[in-house]
Amino acid sequence: MTFADGDSEADRVAQLRELIAHHSYRYHVLDDPEIGDDAYDALYSELRELEAEHPELVTPDSPTQRVGEVPVSDLVKVEHLQRMLSLANVRSAAELRAWIVRMRNFLAREGIEDPVFEFVAEPKIDGLAMSLVYEDGLLARGVTRGDGQTGEDVTHNLRTIAQIPLRLRAVAPPPLVEVRGEVYMSLPDFQALNERRAAAGESTFMNPRNSAAGTVRQLDPRLAAERPLSFWAYQLGVVSEGVGFATHWAALEWLRELGFPVHPDIRVISGEDEVVAQCERWQERRGSLDFEIDGVVVKVNDLELQRRLGVVGREPRWAVAWKFPPTTALTTLLDIGWNPGKFGDLHPYAMLAPVHVGGVTVKQATLHNEEDLARKDLRIGEPVIVLRAGDVIPQVVGPAPHVAERSDRPPKPRPPERCPVCATPTVKPEGSVFTRCPNRDCPGRRLQLLTHFVEAMDIEGLGERQVLAFMERGWLQSAADVYRLPEREQQLLALTGYGETSVRKLFDAIEASKARPFGRVLFAVGIEEVGDVTGRALAQQFGDVDALLAASPEELAQTPGVGPKMAAAIHAQLGDPAMRSLIATLRAQGLNFAQDRTPGREGPLAGLTLVLTGTLPGLTREQATALIVDAGGKVTGSVSKKTAYVVAGDSYGSKLARAEALGVPVLDEAGLLELLAGHGGGGVESSSS
Ligand code: IVH
Repeated sequence: MTFADGDSEADRVAQLRELIAHHSYRYHVLDDPEIGDDAYDALYSELRELEAEHPELVTPDSPTQRVGEVPVSDLVKVEHLQRMLSLANVRSAAELRAWIVRMRNFLAREGIEDPVFEFVAEPKIDGLAMSLVYEDGLLARGVTRGDGQTGEDVTHNLRTIAQIPLRLRAVAPPPLVEVRGEVYMSLPDFQALNERRAAAGESTFMNPRNSAAGTVRQLDPRLAAERPLSFWAYQLGVVSEGVGFATHWAALEWLRELGFPVHPDIRVISGEDEVVAQCERWQERRGSLDFEIDGVVVKVNDLELQRRLGVVGREPRWAVAWKFPPTTALTTLLDIGWNPGKFGDLHPYAMLAPVHVGGVTVKQATLHNEEDLARKDLRIGEPVIVLRAGDVIPQVVGPAPHVAERSDRPPKPRPPERCPVCATPTVKPEGSVFTRCPNRDCPGRRLQLLTHFVEAMDIEGLGERQVLAFMERGWLQSAADVYRLPEREQQLLALTGYGETSVRKLFDAIEASKARPFGRVLFAVGIEEVGDVTGRALAQQFGDVDALLAASPEELAQTPGVGPKMAAAIHAQLGDPAMRSLIATLRAQGLNFAQDRTPGREGPLAGLTLVLTGTLPGLTREQATALIVDAGGKVTGSVSKKTAYVVAGDSYGSKLARAEALGVPVLDEAGLLELLAGHGGGGVESSSS
């Protein structure tokens, strides 16, 4: 093989290594690739071939050396250059303030009066602490925390982590650099891994942390290479003399320059209130991150103050961990209840011995559906693990560890033979995995269907509780009855909790719901398989309800996103006399059964793709999506260069970081509303980088 004049193969190999390291860094650390996968693969293959021809050119920092082939026979114990400390915990704002007072008192005794504290707040990543030692810029070894004094050499596995540089990005790196950080498995990677394992009939991991721990301690690096681990750097360890920083923040910035991933939302803050606020902010966004955190680490920024504060026992005085309330707990599965959904599918839920988790007492938890229940292999009477993260509904994760290995387990729970609400014998339709109540007049089914209707039509003041109360009085049987409620003004006024104002508001909300677009009405009336998006698509395809009702299954299948099976199911339901009569009544009552314009072609957001992240103060995700789609825009899940705007709520996930990296403008809710009103880009808060 020949190259441009003067280039030897050794030069090309060096050049390829540099290119690959650069592109790997852009992709894995900055999340902002400059070239496509194919181009990257081509560089990699070329390097592999050259190295195969010239084994003498292989160096330990070559990217080809990430996928190790030689298993180690043992994990070798290694003494740390500097002790790896643990952290004292605080669990409330008061405890955090007490920590700051303790530091002040300590420093006062040392003769430092009224220190001005700056803090750095970092996510406390739920993974494994690692010490990475770089000698002359090359990764020499990676060691687990162990007992803090001595850890285990797991370099062979850490090399497989693309985010860990094999060589520091510096022209003249100091002879010794120790970097500390957390090896973890991201939630998407963890889920994918467990799905793969389940499909292969292998046991699944309990949580990302266990999965990362099991992976990092493998002897065979090929195993580690198959299980994607990630890394966040959070601390500079020992460095050669002459390298120094005034603050922890400056050290983090340097780590970033050297090519390490440092979380983009780590902040320097001053003042106790801000520290507390920052911890609470992380706590709120906990559920929207794509890796698990179990708290926030707060560190004193000034390294000289850190030195003066020193260490007590195994804990530094200058840092604490603000721990979130635990989100999993162990309790007993008392029974399994079943509730019919809006189409009669019986949804199981767990009845639990009351347990405190995630800051509340939990007595019930969702189990999604029959398949979920079977997959989790739960048995009544056994201990189970309950998860409650953020504001989400509590979930049963699975049986407690080792329970599944017992031989004397209670029998598998089975769906009931009769509907628990109306006692109609249940059925399992052919080809379905779900047991259902076939009775269309089942009050349980109706409650769900009507609740779905009022929620889809966005009628403020009507929710499940009110629907149930009105059903019990015989005022609500079908969606059409919602529009007859105004005839019951006197009856409503007689109810506790309903005064003139609230009744007026309710009637206004009912009236306003008549303006919902045709597509939304199609979603609201409850046609199986027709969600919000399909409702919209059908409305757009057929224009009005007469055309829709006249459509053959083949014609229905012309609708984007509707396949032949779905078309047949929709056709059958639209032909049902009860559905026809409901549609006729709602039409007579003044609901929209025709499309008045074609979204997607015009509108202030025509042709633009937006990404939503976090919780908006005044709009649900569905509402925001509907507004954007109605204005001609599109909503997707991941930020790319093609994203026109990222709309971010008060929490600020990795999508926001990516938007900033790509220079995609970020809007808040007000900015979105202005954009929708057609003030092109007004109120846009453009990202600074
Ligand atoms: S600093 C004195 N920063 O928490 C410095 N630790 O209990 C001690 N951890 O073993 C570590 N995220 O596994 C630090 N941003 C962060 C961290 C972090 C997670 C873990 C680490 C350590 C444990 C301390």
